[in-house]
Amino acid sequence: MDTDVLRETARELVAPGSGILAADESTGTIKKRFDSIGVESTEDNRRAYRDMLLTTPGLGEHISGVILFDETIRQSAKDGTPFPELLAKANMIPGIKVDTGAKPLALFTGETVTEGLDGLRERLSEYREVGARFAKWRATIFCGPDLPTGFAILANAHAMARYAALCQEANIVPIVEPEILMDGDHTIDACEEATARTLTVLYEQLSEHRVDLAGSLLKVNMVVSGAEAETQAGPAKVAEATVRCLTANVPPSVPGIVFLSGGQSDLDATIHLNEMNRSGGHPWVLSFSYGRALQAPSLKAWGGDPANVELGQRALAHRAHMNSLAQLGEYSAELESAA
Ligand code: 13P
Repeated sequence: MDTDVLRETARELVAPGSGILAADESTGTIKKRFDSIGVESTEDNRRAYRDMLLTTPGLGEHISGVILFDETIRQSAKDGTPFPELLAKANMIPGIKVDTGAKPLALFTGETVTEGLDGLRERLSEYREVGARFAKWRATIFCGPDLPTGFAILANAHAMARYAALCQEANIVPIVEPEILMDGDHTIDACEEATARTLTVLYEQLSEHRVDLAGSLLKVNMVVSGAEAETQAGPAKVAEATVRCLTANVPPSVPGIVFLSGGQSDLDATIHLNEMNRSGGHPWVLSFSYGRALQAPSLKAWGGDPANVELGQRALAHRAHMNSLAQLGEYSAELESAA
C-alpha cells in the first residue's frame, strides 16, 4: 500500500471545479436507460454511447475521473484507443465499479446486501493493470417504518470496509457509497436519521479495517425528502440537513464527499450542490459523482443516432460545466439559459 499515491489520487479526484462522471451502469441498468429512448441494449450500442460520452471535447476541464463498468473498461473508442487510455490522455482518471450488485438480504425482508468480495483481490490487480486508479462499491439502504435495520447497515458497512481495504492494498482509491434510497414517502428527517446511522457504522468499520481515510472518498446521497413524500424540502433545507448530517458523521480526514444524484432532476442536483458550497468552510471538498444528473440530457439528445453525437456531447459538456461551478459555489440559474 502506497499511502502517498492513494492520498494524491483522492485529492486529484476532488480538485477545485471538478467532479466525477459515473458511467458505470451495469448491463441491467443501462438497458433501462436505453429502453427510455427506444434503443436496443447491444454491446455495440453500449460502446457507441460510452464513446460519445468519453470523447466529449474538453470534458477533462470539469471531470476529474470516470467510473466505468467491467465491459466498458475493456472496450475501445472508434479509433481503437482503449477507453482507460483515452481518459488518461484527456486528463481524467479511470475508475471501475467492482461490486456485483445488491442482493436480497436473507431473512431481512425489503433490505439488500451488496456482493462482490469473492475474487476481488485478483480482479483489482487486473483492473489496476488496465489503468484503473480508483473504484466504487455501492450499498443500497432502504427507508421505511422499521427500516433500515441496524443489521442491514452493519452487513453492508462490513462488506464495504473489506472492499476498501482490498482496494488500498492494490493502490486503488476506494469510493465507499452507501446510498439511502429516495424511494418511498418518508420525511427528510427520516432520511437524515438513516444517513446518520449508516455513516456512523460505516466509519467505525473502516477504522476497524485499518482503512486510510485520507486515501478514500465518500459517495453518498444528499439528505432529501422521499420521492413520494407529501412535502418536498426545498434547496435551503436540503443543503442545511445534508451539511449538518455530514459534519456530525464524516471524519474531517476524508478529503472529499462526492454526491450521487439518486433520482433528483439534473437541475436539482446542481442547485443543491451549489447551495452547500456557497457558504464554504467545510473540512472536506463537497463535489459530485453523478450518473443520471450528468447523462440524462445527453442520452436524450443522442437517442441512439450517430448523427446526434455532437448534440449529445454538448449536453454533457454543459452539465459538467454547471456542476463544476456548483462545486465552487459559483453556479446560478441564469447560466442555464446563457447556454
Ligand atoms: P446517479 O447519480 O444516477 O444516482 O448514479 C450515481 C451512481 O453511481 C450510483 O451508484
